[in-house]
Amino acid sequence: MNKKTNKFIPRSYRQAGKKAELMLASMTTEEKIAFIGGDRSFFIRPIPRLNFPEIYMTDATQGVHIRESFAGTDLSKYQLSSSTSFPCPIALASTWNTEISYRYARAIGEECRAGNIGILLGPGFNNYRISQCGRNFEYFGEDPFLRAKMISEYVKGLQSTGTMAVLKHFTANNTDYFRRKSNSIVDERTLNEIYFPPFKAGIEAGAPAVMTAYNLLNGEWCGQSKYVIDELLRKQLGFNGLVMTDWWSVYDGEKVIKSGQDLEMPAASALKDAPRLLDEGKIKIEDIDRMVGNILRACFIMKLDKRRKTMCGKNYYEKHELTALQTAREAIVLLKNDKNLLPLGKRTKKILVTGEYAKKIAMGGGSAAVKGYNNRILLDELKREFKDRVMYLPEPDISQLKTAGAVICTVGTEDSEAWDRPFELPGEQEKKIKTCVKNNPNTVIIVFSGGGIRMTDWHKKAGAIIYAWYGGQTGNKAVAEIIAGKINPSGKLPISIEKEFKDSPGCGYLPKGAELYTGWHEEQEKGEPVYDIHYKEGVFAGYRWYEKKKIPPLYPFGFGFSYTSFVYSALAVKTDMFLKKGIVEINFKIKNIGKRYGLETAQIYIQDLRSSIPRPVKELKGFTKARLAPGKNKSIRVELTKKDFSFWNPENKNWFFEAGTFVIHVGSSSKDIRLKKRIKL
Ligand code: BGC
Repeated sequence: MNKKTNKFIPRSYRQAGKKAELMLASMTTEEKIAFIGGDRSFFIRPIPRLNFPEIYMTDATQGVHIRESFAGTDLSKYQLSSSTSFPCPIALASTWNTEISYRYARAIGEECRAGNIGILLGPGFNNYRISQCGRNFEYFGEDPFLRAKMISEYVKGLQSTGTMAVLKHFTANNTDYFRRKSNSIVDERTLNEIYFPPFKAGIEAGAPAVMTAYNLLNGEWCGQSKYVIDELLRKQLGFNGLVMTDWWSVYDGEKVIKSGQDLEMPAASALKDAPRLLDEGKIKIEDIDRMVGNILRACFIMKLDKRRKTMCGKNYYEKHELTALQTAREAIVLLKNDKNLLPLGKRTKKILVTGEYAKKIAMGGGSAAVKGYNNRILLDELKREFKDRVMYLPEPDISQLKTAGAVICTVGTEDSEAWDRPFELPGEQEKKIKTCVKNNPNTVIIVFSGGGIRMTDWHKKAGAIIYAWYGGQTGNKAVAEIIAGKINPSGKLPISIEKEFKDSPGCGYLPKGAELYTGWHEEQEKGEPVYDIHYKEGVFAGYRWYEKKKIPPLYPFGFGFSYTSFVYSALAVKTDMFLKKGIVEINFKIKNIGKRYGLETAQIYIQDLRSSIPRPVKELKGFTKARLAPGKNKSIRVELTKKDFSFWNPENKNWFFEAGTFVIHVGSSSKDIRLKKRIKL
């Protein structure tokens, strides 16, 4: 750590490479072979003879995951006594605030340092393709540009503490239904335009490691595919760092070694064959050297060979809790607010609270699970805001519903890796919502979920809908503050929420006759056949699909209400710098014309009016978050580059700019475009 700036300065690639070469030269073949398989499930193997320490890695999807199994063992020094539970990443993406992404990740990095954690198994940011995917909460939504911007700052924030980022999961890992058996069939243009931009951004931000995915891509498991690792990741994306497998995800040692893969986790399983393959001459010692060298170099870049634990005192935890709260405050999305039902004012005398999550915190499971501390339940937070006007009734009757001034009905799903969940809410929850909205028009539905859910049958009758995601330990405080009007909601959907699952481009991904299941079925998974998922929509993913097919989603990408209103004006687009510098400058103004302080995320989409290959109606290429007091104006300036107007040309495998007429759309969501201008480039 640099004491002055409190910022970690990594070793240069060259310096780290030299150190790795030196060490490699001192290692025996046995040491090298042992090194390319993980140790005790979550460690890079130590080499005491050469003073190379063991290096611990853990997950931190929504805060640092504490491994209970380490308690009372000699690994307990890797166990933090507590870790902050943050809003989940899809919530972080809903803030559209890159500065929060930096702070969120830096806080996680600081806790990693206190827990002797050298490597963070994240961030994960697979594209939101299927609303049913059990891991959507761990990722950053459906748009490549938004994901790339958030990931870039995440990596910088995390690594500013000296904790290594591992970008995951490479690639096209978009379902958790028997996740080791899905074969994603995707073309290269789609991969480059939709799936790769956040990986590229993470690599450019300095992440020295990438984790391959469980699934197959175009017929081969990602972790042992030369095409995936050598061709796509290393050649097309220019990555020259450490590649590691996901846990138990490769099967053929020879393929693994020849694919460009470096490290098998959690242990050498396929790589057990390495000594035999060497003896038989099927692989060379240089192959093993490459793997060891890549692992070492990544560790040396992050100075993990010399890392010291940095304490994370009470003041750190207080700061982290505040970061978690600020994230939640900006993440919550107000989807509906009929007749300005919210915020609930003094006139609302009796607030009836019901539903599954009034007293329980919804969160995502699996390696992402984080217990947190100072966990706040919604009922307590509502009581803090509304005192004895709040009444909790787990099973209210019709007359109690009818006589309440407002009803707050909490619903949700508890998503996890290793399985997918239905788009529809569980039957009892649907029923409860319908009873509430039927009997009281002032019903506020609060949804806690990791992705989109079906709202078609009841959204019209709901007075208000708040999308609260999984808010972590302080999320419910933010929900209560929004209901009370202390905080003005500003979250915007990083996904489109379809009316029916069949509207989605991902629908039909399950094998014929398959049924969703819950829980870890790893033994059963081994016997399941590989099934193909054709990404037929190509680059028309997310809103690009709904716009092209003219299927309106229930709630569009980029959407979210505020308690105030914003007016957009004075769009001016300067193109005179384009020929020389490849820059287009966009200027416009936003004014808060309401009575409350508020935050507005302005979104800039580009449209190519005519192109030699089909392109989406609109593509997000810029956004900015303005903070405005009532009556105040802000001038916004955004620069777009030539690349923003380009598409991936599969023929010469590169980005291609095609001159022509473009439209610049500036709006409050993908649907609510306020200003437009045609330009010729
Ligand atoms: C997950 C990874 C995670 C690993 C280690 C796997 O089940 O897919 O994302 O990093 O476990 O916990």
